[in-house]
Amino acid sequence: MRASMAANESGERCKSFECIWGDPSGFLGGAALTAMAIAGGRQNKAALDLLAPRLGDSVIELGCGPGMGVRAALKRVGREGFVAGIDQSATAAHYAAHAVHGACLDGRAAIMRAEAADLPFRDSMFDRAFAVNTFQFWPDPARALREIARVLAPGGRLVITQRASNLDNPTNFAGAANGMERISRATALLKAQGWRIVDERCTTDGPRLLAVSVLAERPV
Ligand SMILES: C[S@@+](CC[C@H](N)C(=O)[O-])C[C@H]1O[C@@H](n2cnc3c(N)ncnc32)[C@H](O)[C@@H]1O
Repeated sequence: MRASMAANESGERCKSFECIWGDPSGFLGGAALTAMAIAGGRQNKAALDLLAPRLGDSVIELGCGPGMGVRAALKRVGREGFVAGIDQSATAAHYAAHAVHGACLDGRAAIMRAEAADLPFRDSMFDRAFAVNTFQFWPDPARALREIARVLAPGGRLVITQRASNLDNPTNFAGAANGMERISRATALLKAQGWRIVDERCTTDGPRLLAVSVLAERPV
């Protein structure tokens, strides 16, 4: 078994059809990544609005999937900035590298196949970090959060964002509850590790709840 294998919500290795979202591979994984690329824009925007990367910042996206978040972050940090995307799925890393090919060639972006709990970057390398719709798949989220703190510079910030409902169904309370439950689990772990919780936010689109996010600052 790959050490990087994604887990389902009970911490077990992903085996079901659902896990094409948590560990996309093969033909179905490619279809899931295409769907993420089409549908994930508003959650990436919600995460980046809250993260507020500055021009010239170094940013890392954990669980970057098809790379749309990396692409959006590149626009925010400008030509002097740098954005890394990591994903434990080789298929996702391949899609993401394709999505930001030009920026990779310019040295403004890097895509790597890696596990959130074992990042191939030096200490304090990033100003900002974000993770969209991926936290629920991390097999050891506490270890991943410690690893993210390691690669963030002092004062560095992390946003974790989760989809909060089915966009076509504003009264999908179960979907909203799932997103909120995941963010409250993330918030509890962050607090236990000494992260400072800066903001917790729901993003809406008219009557629709789009996303739930937590913004936290690295432990001192
Ligand atoms: C539902 S997709 C979300 C992708 C992207 N963030 C988006 O919103 O479109 C979840 C992604 O997280 C990745 N992932 C799951 N567990 C991971 C882990 N422990 N470390 C790194 N990536 C992980 C999966 O491979 C998958 O590409």
